[in-house]
Amino acid sequence: PVLNSRLIDIQELGDERGMLAVIESNINVPFETKRIFYIYGTAEGVRRGFHAHHKTRQALVCVSGKCTVFLDNIERKTDILLDSPTKLLILEPNDWHEMYDFSADCVLLVLASHLYDPEDYIRDYNQFREVYGG
Ligand code: TYD
Repeated sequence: PVLNSRLIDIQELGDERGMLAVIESNINVPFETKRIFYIYGTAEGVRRGFHAHHKTRQALVCVSGKCTVFLDNIERKTDILLDSPTKLLILEPNDWHEMYDFSADCVLLVLASHLYDPEDYIRDYNQFREVYGG
């Protein structure tokens, strides 16, 4: 199947004072946000993530700098560049993801539909294939 995850544009609200962008639950993110975290100060050359989820839906945006997200749903793989505060990646639970090529100034903001639960992670690729592969 096609990847469920998708990139959406956040409308930029700007005037002579500068820019502003808004993310609202169930309006431009298709879930209720229960948790927010951000990844920053990432060391050069680091690749992180390497998991999928059972139920957590997420939305990722580089509010500063840039990084690339590799997505894999077993049948399809793609790399998505997040290089603007207006690019929001809706990341569905069944897409294995890895983040890489972080710029030194990257602040990757993540909104999540569920509170942190280690049990919701699928960190073993073979298990990922068992859960989501055909
Ligand atoms: P980790 O899952 O390794 O990050 P990633 O897979 O994106 O590279 O998270 C790093 C640490 O932070 C790990 O010990 C789990 C912890 N953590 C929380 O306690 N709460 C959270 O919401 C997240 C995302 C991570």
